Amino acid sequence: MVAIEDTRKQIEALREQVRYHGRRYYIEDAPEISDAEYDSLYNELEALESENPELVTPDSPTQRVGGEPLEGFEEVRHAIPMLSLSNARKTGDLREWDARVRRLLGPEEEARLRYVTELKIDGLAISLRYENGRFVRGATRGNGAVGEDVTHNLRTVRSIPDRLDGDAPEVLEPRGEVYIGLEDFEKLNRRQEAEGKPVYANPRNLAAGSIRQLDPKMTAARPLTVFLYGIGEGYGDYESHSASLAALKNYGLRVNPYEVHESIDSVVEACERWAERRTSVGYQIDGVVVKVDSRGQQEQLGSVQKAPRWAIAYKFEPLAGRTRLQNIFVHVGRTGALTPQAVLDPVNIGGVTISRATLHNEDYIKEKDILVGDRVVVERAGDVIPQVVRPVTEERTGQEYAFEMPTECPVCGEPASRPEGEAVTRCVNTRCPAQALEHIIHWVSKSAMDIDGFGEKMAARFFELGMIKDVADIYGLKAEQIEPLEGLGQKSAENLIRSIERSKEQPFPRVLYALGVRHVGAVTAELIAERFSGEDLLRGVEAEKLTEIDGIGGVVARAVAEYFSLEDNQALIERLMEIGLDFERVSAGPTEGPLAGMRVVVTGTLSRPRSYFVERIEAAGGTFTSSVSSNTDYVVAGDGAGSKLNKARDAGVTILDEDGFEGLLST
Ligand code: IVH
Repeated sequence: MVAIEDTRKQIEALREQVRYHGRRYYIEDAPEISDAEYDSLYNELEALESENPELVTPDSPTQRVGGEPLEGFEEVRHAIPMLSLSNARKTGDLREWDARVRRLLGPEEEARLRYVTELKIDGLAISLRYENGRFVRGATRGNGAVGEDVTHNLRTVRSIPDRLDGDAPEVLEPRGEVYIGLEDFEKLNRRQEAEGKPVYANPRNLAAGSIRQLDPKMTAARPLTVFLYGIGEGYGDYESHSASLAALKNYGLRVNPYEVHESIDSVVEACERWAERRTSVGYQIDGVVVKVDSRGQQEQLGSVQKAPRWAIAYKFEPLAGRTRLQNIFVHVGRTGALTPQAVLDPVNIGGVTISRATLHNEDYIKEKDILVGDRVVVERAGDVIPQVVRPVTEERTGQEYAFEMPTECPVCGEPASRPEGEAVTRCVNTRCPAQALEHIIHWVSKSAMDIDGFGEKMAARFFELGMIKDVADIYGLKAEQIEPLEGLGQKSAENLIRSIERSKEQPFPRVLYALGVRHVGAVTAELIAERFSGEDLLRGVEAEKLTEIDGIGGVVARAVAEYFSLEDNQALIERLMEIGLDFERVSAGPTEGPLAGMRVVVTGTLSRPRSYFVERIEAAGGTFTSSVSSNTDYVVAGDGAGSKLNKARDAGVTILDEDGFEGLLST
């Protein structure tokens, strides 16, 4: 019994740490430890919990990854309804609303009137419920009176803490919006595109769809986050809206940024300011919400139908417009993907003239029934590339015609093909100039070789002047060649050459990532570089060998194997090796020692904490893993070891006790 109590304490201590660092990272954006360190804490917790399933509680940080799929959603009746807002389209509407508020409040209250403005986020409205500081339930807004119980899915959203800080009221229902940031959205869509999968239309639909997934694992895989902007039950504890927001912040929740105003002039000024800056916010917003600050005054004003009289939404002009689709041309990207682009009659959308928009891929155009010559609806959502959303079929003249995807690459003329089951057509020629330039741009970028001062424009310029044809040519550039170019000069030429030279010191994982192999991101490159050197890869690796690496699946493995089997790629790599770039395998830890290259699982109750074993294993060149498989070399088993021990026996893995483990290390 004592042992289980100790484990419980150990688990609780780990959870505290994981929660704390998770919050520093996900909510406060100020991590104190490295990702790797966080992962190892997390893994330790997960390992302990999996050995002691009876100690797993729903509020553990490990439960965020999603439990079992749900059958359907239970209904949740909101004790305090989730209201909607009436809209103001013009600033004049705001002034009229202000006059009505003043009239209803009367002269005495009017003197104390203050407003709060905050951004109106375009996501999915949710209500969280905390009882005694613990997250117990999360629901969608639904029709305002009844929503759906999406607790399991909301538990996977990292910015929703499972415990509140400080002394929150016994029952607290923070309300807000779940959304996906624009950068994350674009990243996700680029990945979808690279994998030949359909792209998502906009961040709002994706966020809403993710929360209403029956399988929480799907939700967990989406980069959802939350902003809270109000309180349902529990609001009575605060004297004003701004005080309630400040309190939510202190409880450790992410609060929508807000401003307090003394006059409607100041409110109008804030609305106009945000309308201008709407695309620089980083997430989709469609207006500014204005609220009367004092709770007493809110109560005095009350609600009509489903909207409060004390709040109003100032809505921005929609970021959509209509124009004619003149033509469709095809852009060829770094990985050879052919992307159809719309050429539009220029149209002003939200103050920006748009004449190009994406059409994603062939299927998208077919599904939406978009024809060349159509009048189309174009949407611009923040920083998201403008896209053609749909045709206005009622305005067809009969002159429109269907787009056909070329069967040859429009840049090099070599065949383009669309692999079965994929949405993307690709140019198969790795020497295609379009791919070459895109590859150079990727190579010099910050996350790849990080060649300071060598941006996209510079790459395009050198490429067009014929000074570089591929990435290896970058290392042959001379200051004398660069100096005479307009706008450059001696100093910048020398700086550039210096940055190029410095980039030769980038470690192999960076080089591997910079090669731009399809599906190989920075993390995957790291994993591969820990197992194989450049020489190994050049000699040819089979996809099966690559899939033995934890975290590398079949699609990635095949792409890597194919890349290194192509002669052009091999020739490029050989040149890069001669130039002196790093192609040496990197070690995840020491590669020597009694456990070099071995995978070790630790299970059961042992005399020392798990972290001790992890350190010892790694110092001896081994890898600590949490589950037993046929790749496991040793299982160190303590008292009460359960399923892992059985699995190890079945798989014929060597089982050691603590003494055996120590003995092995002293050899
Ligand atoms: S306040 C009683 N504040 O807009 C006040 N709503 O029509 C109720 N929304 O679906 C809402 N950002 O989810 C409020 N800062 C914000 C908001 C916001 C977005 C959404 C909300 C609701 C709709 C209101």
